Order: sequence, then structure tokens, then C-alpha cells
Amino acid sequence: MFNFDETVLERLQTAKKIVFFSGAGISAESGVPTFRDDLSGLWAQYDPMQLATPEAFRRQPALVWGWYLWRRQRVRAAQPNAAHLALAQWQAAAGADRVICLTQNVDDLHERAGCSEVLHLHGNLFSSLCAECGQSVDEAALPKAHQTRAVDVEFDPNGQEITPPACRACGGHIRPGVIWFGEALDSQVLDRSFELSATCDVLIAIGTSGVVQPAAALPSIAREAGAYVMQINPQETPLDAVAHSNIRASAAQALPELYKHVHKGQ
Ligand code: APR
Repeated sequence: MFNFDETVLERLQTAKKIVFFSGAGISAESGVPTFRDDLSGLWAQYDPMQLATPEAFRRQPALVWGWYLWRRQRVRAAQPNAAHLALAQWQAAAGADRVICLTQNVDDLHERAGCSEVLHLHGNLFSSLCAECGQSVDEAALPKAHQTRAVDVEFDPNGQEITPPACRACGGHIRPGVIWFGEALDSQVLDRSFELSATCDVLIAIGTSGVVQPAAALPSIAREAGAYVMQINPQETPLDAVAHSNIRASAAQALPELYKHVHKGQ
């Protein structure tokens, strides 16, 4: 179905380090909504400034926490799709030091597909921490009503208010362990991402609109350092101008095909 350029395949076959840089689009076919698609994107339905900033959490902690419990539940119900599986297969075949999974996604679908190492630029949907003292809290240590694995009620997608649990150490509100707008990324994760992008042979951006900084700069960093940059996305994005080649297709269609072509005969 896909006609991949022979030179592209050769580059992928001989690459010592490939960075897969994923965004919400790779999870779209698992039923996890993206952020910026016109109709189904989360930010078409919700105002990010009311739900995904530290100020929003200070103002309306119950609204924000309730929305994140709904998102946790939604991701829990989703399964990795063919793109997540192909990437995991690629990493298993080549080794996690040669095939790097760098994601903006806070879901755990790369891990559940079998990726052994995943760098999460924007944090992890299932981790929690105290908004006051920063103490991290395992989901299993949260009261049962706040554990999406344990509850049998369905959280309301339209904004159910659920007061966050109190931190056992200081009494502050527990918040999700994701990076919100206006917050700094974990410096170790960010430094490692810059380094990997600057030292890889190929970077493949998959399913990202390429507009949220600093993550959106990674493909340019790779290109400027001499890497070959590819993009898999059914829509045009600002990364079209950065990528040497663009595959205009869904991730779940294109990535398994690309894997097969690169590994054929091996
Ligand atoms: N396969 C590949 N790409 C797809 C698919 C698909 N099946 N479906 C949609 N896409 C593409 C869209 O065309 C779009 O370019 O995925 C991209 C999704 O873009 P965003 O919703 O902006 O997601 P992302 O780039 O990951 O957002 C970055 O913004 O809101 C913050 O922290 C959040 O990590 C997120 C960051």
C-alpha cells in the first residue's frame, strides 16, 4: 500500500539511533482524543486554561481533578493500536539504546504495547503529587474513590466536580503528575530529549501538531544536527517544513508498514 523511498528505507536500516517522537495522534486510533483536531480534539470541547494550568487547579481543584479522573478512566479503557505495537516491536528488535521512544503523551499506551523505555516530556497521567509539598503519591495509596482501577462508576466527561484527596504529609490538594501550560518540563527529561535529538540519525515525528514548545523544537534540533527527519501525520503541520519526508497517513496504517519494509529479509 505504501511506496517508501529506497533511500529512506536504507537510512532507517543503517541508522544507529532512531528517535520516535510521538504526539496525541498516535493514540487517536485507540480512541484517546487528540487536543487540537477541529471536531474531536479536547481543546475544541474544553478550555485548556480552565483545566490544564496551575491557576485553574488553584481556582477550581474539584473541576480539574474530576476531569483528570475521567481522562484516566478513558485511557484505561483504551488499548494500544497497531502503531504503538509496531514501535514497541522495533524497539525490541533493535534495542532501547538504538530505538528511542520520546513522547508528549501522558497516556501509557507505549508502555502497554511493550516499549521498555519511554521518555514522557509532559509527565504521566497516572502519577499524582501534592500541589503544595510536591510529595508524589502512588495511585494505590489514593482513597478508593479516586482510583480509576478500583471504581466501578463512570466519571462524567462533562465536568464532574470531585474534590481531590488531601496529602497525608501536609494536607494540600493532590494533583495529577502532568505538565500543565505555563509549567517547566522536568529538566532531566528535557535535557535528555535535546541530547537524543541532536545525536540521532533519524527522527520520526508521529501524530503531533508540532506547536507546543519546547517539544516542538526537537525535530528542528535533529535536522540542524544532520539527522534525517520524517513525519507521519494525515494533516499538514508546521513540521512539514522541517521534515525531509512526510507520510500523509494515519500512524496505525503507516508505522506497521514502515516497520515491515525496513525489517524485510531480516
Ligand atoms: N495518526 C497520526 N496522526 C494523527 C492521527 C492519526 N490517526 N489523528 C490525528 N493525527 C494528528 C493530527 O493531524 C494532529 O496534527 O495528530 C496531531 C495531534 O495534535 P495535537 O492534538 O495538538 O497533539 P500534540 O501535538 O500531541 O499536542 C502537544 O499539547 O495540549 C498539549 O500537553 C498536550 O502533549 C500535548 C501537547
